[in-house]
Amino acid sequence: MIDHGIVVATVDPGRRHVRMLDAHCPHLGAHLGHGGTVVGNDIECPFHGWRWSGDGRNTCIPYSARPNRGQRLRSWTVREQDDVIIVWHDPHNREPAWEPPTLADLVDGFSLDEFYPVHRTSRLWPDVRVRPQMVAENIVDAAHFRYVHSTPAMPTILDHHTEGPHFVVKHSFGGDRGAAVRIHTSGLGLMVGTFFTESGLTFVELQSSTPIGGDRSDLRDSVWLRRDSASPADPSVRQRATLDRQLAQLGNDVTIWENMVYRDRAPLAPEESKPIRALREWAKQFYPATANV
Ligand code: FES
Ligand SMILES: [Fe+2]
Repeated sequence: MIDHGIVVATVDPGRRHVRMLDAHCPHLGAHLGHGGTVVGNDIECPFHGWRWSGDGRNTCIPYSARPNRGQRLRSWTVREQDDVIIVWHDPHNREPAWEPPTLADLVDGFSLDEFYPVHRTSRLWPDVRVRPQMVAENIVDAAHFRYVHSTPAMPTILDHHTEGPHFVVKHSFGGDRGAAVRIHTSGLGLMVGTFFTESGLTFVELQSSTPIGGDRSDLRDSVWLRRDSASPADPSVRQRATLDRQLAQLGNDVTIWENMVYRDRAPLAPEESKPIRALREWAKQFYPATANV
């Protein structure tokens, strides 16, 4: 449950679906996430028992002859993929203009079975004072890796380019093991990082931002760690150490975000200017003033 909506798993014949609806009942305004119950494919309000379908129609008023067809609860578009629920948000309520890539689209040969279940290797940072664009800007901010994430040196950006709603950047961290990361950002809320060394894929990470109002967002950090054959059910000690190191990194960013001011006209150094400007230019498409309404 989040402030503006609730996630409800409903049962369709043979399959569970996740639905996300606005939180407050159109009748007298009760919050469906506090005592609402799923009945069949509907959710029943805890206040007077009105029922709402997964697509937001009123299906039953228990003490009245017929439902109120004129009333609707907003139903949000969701996608379920890679054990993650993704919600489409558009300020004008339009249908999705693009689909989020799956991990198999982004990582050659990716198969979920080879990784520990991601709900056990994820962390939520609730109610952080940050806007999603600030999180996205991290991926092209090479210098911050050195100072915020303690990389031995500033990484080199090998490539950055845009593909419509996607922004892709590849960094090399140098060093003997040839560490590199490719980050694929879709919209302002979904960033998939694929971490490699010379010996192959180390892990995959999804950093996602859910704006919850004003300058605040919920941040989720999900890390797919390859199962060790010696410890197939639970992360091994080695993988747990990798996870803890990686999850701690976002905490370092959070400390900066919580306390910074955002500079629209930042005095960028020549060495960092091109990728940061490119990302800011790309990001304009996601704001109402410049959206193709
Ligand atoms: S407020 Fe939901 S049924 Fe009355
Ligand atoms: Fe960062």
